[in-house]
Amino acid sequence: MAEQPDIEQLQTTLLAEITAAGDDNVLEQIRIGALGKKGSISARMKGLGAMAPDERKAAGQSLNALKSVIADAIAARRDELQAAALEERLLTEIVDVTLPHRPVQTGSIHPVSQVWEEVVQIFGDLGFSVAEGSHIESDWYNFGALNIPDEHPARQEHDTFYFNPGPDGSRKVLRTHTSPVQIHTMEKSQPPIRIIAPGRTFRCDSDQTHTPMFHQIEGLVLDETTHLGNLKWCLLEFCKAFFETDEVKMRFRSSHFPFTEPSMEVDINCSWQDGQVKIGVGDDWLEILGSGMVHPNVIRAGGHDPDKVQGFAFGLGLDRIAMLKYGIPDLRAFFETDLRWLRHYGFSTLNVPTLAGGLS
Ligand code: DAH
Repeated sequence: MAEQPDIEQLQTTLLAEITAAGDDNVLEQIRIGALGKKGSISARMKGLGAMAPDERKAAGQSLNALKSVIADAIAARRDELQAAALEERLLTEIVDVTLPHRPVQTGSIHPVSQVWEEVVQIFGDLGFSVAEGSHIESDWYNFGALNIPDEHPARQEHDTFYFNPGPDGSRKVLRTHTSPVQIHTMEKSQPPIRIIAPGRTFRCDSDQTHTPMFHQIEGLVLDETTHLGNLKWCLLEFCKAFFETDEVKMRFRSSHFPFTEPSMEVDINCSWQDGQVKIGVGDDWLEILGSGMVHPNVIRAGGHDPDKVQGFAFGLGLDRIAMLKYGIPDLRAFFETDLRWLRHYGFSTLNVPTLAGGLS
C-alpha cells in the first residue's frame, strides 16, 4: 500500500500533462513516457516482481487502474484535438457560394460535329448503326464496285485526288464519297443490314459551296423486303426530326446515279426571306440528298444475291445540311479555324444532342 500515494501523484501529474497537451505529437510523447516499454507506468509494473505477495496484489490493481485511466484520458484528448483541428479548418476553408463564378472560356463543338451527332441520334432511333470506312480507297471500292466502270463519265465529275501508282500500276484514291462503305459493309455482314456511315470525303474543288474536304453521310438498308415506300418514309422521318418541324414537304425527283436504280434526288420545301432560308415553309424547293434502290450490280459486288435481297441507299452532304439548319452562309469558313467563327457558330460542350433532350 506504500505505493498508493506515489501512484496517485503520478496519475495527477500525467492527467495534467494530458489536458495541457496542445497537439498530437505532444500527446504521443506523453503516451510513450507513461505506457511505452520504458515508460513510468511500465517501470512500476516491472517492480511488482520484487514485492511481497499481498503488497504486489494491491499495487498491481492500482497500477492497472492507472494504466486504463491514462489510456482513456489520452484517447479522449486525442478526439478533442482532432475535433478542434477540423473546426479550425472548416472556419478557414469557407466557400462563399454567392460569389459570381469566374468566366471559364471553354472550347466549343464545331457545327459539323454537332450535326454529325444529331444525324447519328436520329438514325440510331430508327434502328441504324454506324459504320466506318477509310479515307484512302482502291479504285474498285470507290468506283468499280459501285457500278462506275472505267471511262464512266461519273469518274470525271468526281474530281478525284489520285495517289501515285503503286508497284502493280494501280492508283489509290482519296474517297470521293462515302458510298464505298456500302461495299465494305455488305462484304462483312449478312442482311438485314441497316447502317449509316458519316465521314470525310475529298474532291479537288473549291468555291463558296465546295471545299476539297467535306463530309457526307451514307445510308444503306438491305434485306428481303425493303422497298421504295420504306425509303420515302425513312427519309421523311429523318427530315422532320433533323429540321425539328412536322410540316416539311418532300419532293422525289427522278435522277441518275450508277449505284442505284431507280435513283431519286430529294428536295424539301423552304422559303427565302431576306437571304435567309426557312425549312418546312414556303413553296421553293431545296435539294438535300441523293437516293435510290441499290443497283443489282452493287449488291453482287458486295457479295450478295440481288435475286434474294434488295434495299435502298442514300447519300447527303453533312456540311450542307448544317449550313441550312444553322443559317451558316459560307462553306469555306467551316474549315478556316477562325476562333471568332467557332465561338459564334459553335455549340456548348455540355449540350449533347439527344432525341429526348433536344437536338440543337
Ligand atoms: N455518292 C453520291 C455522291 O457523292 C451520293 C449518293 C447518291 C449516295 C445516291 C447514295 C445514293 O447512296 O443512293 O454524290
